[in-house]
Amino acid sequence: MIPIFEPKFDGNEREYLMSCIDSGWISSQGKFIEQFESSFAAQSDMPIGVATSNCTTALHLALVSLGIGPGDEVICPDLTFIAPINMVALCGATPVLIDIESDSWAIDPDLIEARITEKTKALIVVHPFGHTADMTRIMEICDRRSIPVIEDVAEAPRALCNGQVAGSFGVMSCYSFFANKIMTTGEGGIVLTKDPDLETRLRTYRDHGMSREKRYFHIVAGYNYRMTNMQAAVGLAQLERLDDILMCRHAQDMQYRNRLAAGSSHLTYRPVLGYCQPVHWLATITLQNAEQRTALLTHLSDNGIDGRQMVFPVLETVPYVHGARPEDYPVATSISHRSLHLPSGTGLSEAQVDEICDLVLEWVTAHGE
Ligand SMILES: Cc1ncc(COP(=O)(O)O)c(C=O)c1O
Repeated sequence: MIPIFEPKFDGNEREYLMSCIDSGWISSQGKFIEQFESSFAAQSDMPIGVATSNCTTALHLALVSLGIGPGDEVICPDLTFIAPINMVALCGATPVLIDIESDSWAIDPDLIEARITEKTKALIVVHPFGHTADMTRIMEICDRRSIPVIEDVAEAPRALCNGQVAGSFGVMSCYSFFANKIMTTGEGGIVLTKDPDLETRLRTYRDHGMSREKRYFHIVAGYNYRMTNMQAAVGLAQLERLDDILMCRHAQDMQYRNRLAAGSSHLTYRPVLGYCQPVHWLATITLQNAEQRTALLTHLSDNGIDGRQMVFPVLETVPYVHGARPEDYPVATSISHRSLHLPSGTGLSEAQVDEICDLVLEWVTAHGE
């Protein structure tokens, strides 16, 4: 089976990890944590990094640090991996779900203003599948209405929007280092910010609500959302190679794009908009209808290729479907139901990408309408 994604560890991962084991610094204290926090933040043009156990906890910390709670509304895109929406709900706030744009697949800036109310306390923007949202427009709206923006950059670290790196626009940005992400620490995440007051709140909530000055004295009800020194050790080694990883992934994207975007009128390879310099997370194609998408996934699986369907629109999922009207999110529905992801591991060879493209093109030529 060609897997959908495989992590690759060919830098200093083993050496750094062994130094944690040899020194006994295996929990959430140790030299790699600080190094990882400051190096990752610097790479994303942000001064402060607070490492976390994953991106979901990073998002929760960011929301709690802004004081989001019951009665508040947080605007979010309707097509995303569900973690940011769940974290809004976990705070007791209401996620206000907005449809996506048909080309960037990010939250549609044209629909935001109509959904802002006096209860709106934040907007979470997700940079989907390696592409950025239109941050210039989104920041103009949110700055004018004094709404803090949290960026979810789990799928697009180092992507650029009008030359500025994703994750450096909002008040905080959250990243994932799960095994299928562009760089990994196994499980892991980080929140970046420019604001030292938010940093204090993030660190306090991350560590059981304990005072930064007085040990074992708890000033708020907090959590244990810390990253371990071992995760940070792997993260630092991955970070040292991030430029190479991104370059290698870009070459893979070009190969897929050249073969699939030009190869058939029956499918669309994920577009790139003029304002954006994306990174290649997943190779995504959109077919003519949902039935074709499902049938092609089966065909890929029968031929040893691990394709994946795109996530469902949030408003179709059990916790959020109540009262939802499909006509309010037509773009998310259409893109979600017709799209699938092809393997995109860093270890994938050019010959394997060709093999996948041959299979896809052959199938859509035979089955396209
Ligand atoms: C956009 C987005 N946000 C958040 C997450 C959650 O990340 P984690 O698994 O690190 O909690 C993911 C994971 O796929 C994601 O794609």
